[in-house]
Amino acid sequence: MRRTVVMAGAAAIGAGLAVAAGRSGVLPGESWRERVWVTSQGLPSGPLGWVGAREQALEHRPMYATMAKELDLQADDDLLDVGCGSAGLLKYHAAHVRHVAGLDASEIQVAMARRRLAERVAAGTAEIVLGDAAALPWEDGRFSVVTSLASIEFVPDPLKVLSEMHRVLRPGGRAVLSLGMRVGNAAESGTKSAWGLWRWSEADARRLMEEAGFGDVSVSPPPTAYFTLQLGRGAKQVSPLVAEPEPVPIA
Ligand SMILES: C[S@@+](CC[C@H](N)C(=O)[O-])C[C@H]1O[C@@H](n2cnc3c(N)ncnc32)[C@H](O)[C@@H]1O
Repeated sequence: MRRTVVMAGAAAIGAGLAVAAGRSGVLPGESWRERVWVTSQGLPSGPLGWVGAREQALEHRPMYATMAKELDLQADDDLLDVGCGSAGLLKYHAAHVRHVAGLDASEIQVAMARRRLAERVAAGTAEIVLGDAAALPWEDGRFSVVTSLASIEFVPDPLKVLSEMHRVLRPGGRAVLSLGMRVGNAAESGTKSAWGLWRWSEADARRLMEEAGFGDVSVSPPPTAYFTLQLGRGAKQVSPLVAEPEPVPIA
């Protein structure tokens, strides 16, 4: 009950700020919808971002549960969440995982995430990094699982981010991530909505993951009515074994 009231309050404040921002003329020459949505949700900053980050932390809980089921995390996994927000997924669904890392470009989100995971960060089993998903600060093959929830639809270059996620995944590792909105109209696939969200047809979303290097790719519609993004799954292929050279006979 308390959560519902908080969410309703946060949504009302967010909507009020959005309308105020749109009417204020602070957003000349741009899609005010995109600007407001990105500032509050896509890359939270300023007062709108402060509200948006807190509202997301509550609103996305059902999505964390869906992702956790898909991820099927094991105790010996090393998990990276790209665009981790306030680290709800890492906190509530990855407590049993050996090492968790989260990266986000919003200072507001990173501060919240560090507070949430303070004990694990102090213990050295978690790290939260302020950074850009298009340039992940980890070596190749660092993680056994990579994920991303409700974030790739906001980044400027989704292919670059997916390629980075593939790079830091170890061979045989798996990725489960949410991609942008699903569109049936081929002309809209690969374009942004008025709210600034990338959207793809299911076929294009699959191609995007394959282009980034993933194998065993599947893309499916939202598993629950609440979850409006499409889900992509893939794996990093184990390199084919190089054939042993034939022994050279000794004369
Ligand atoms: C809608 S929020 C989702 C956050 C979290 N995954 C969740 O579900 O609650 C999108 C997140 O992506 C982050 N983000 C956007 N662009 C990014 C980028 N280029 N690099 C890293 N994070 C980014 C934002 O700061 C924001 O926290």
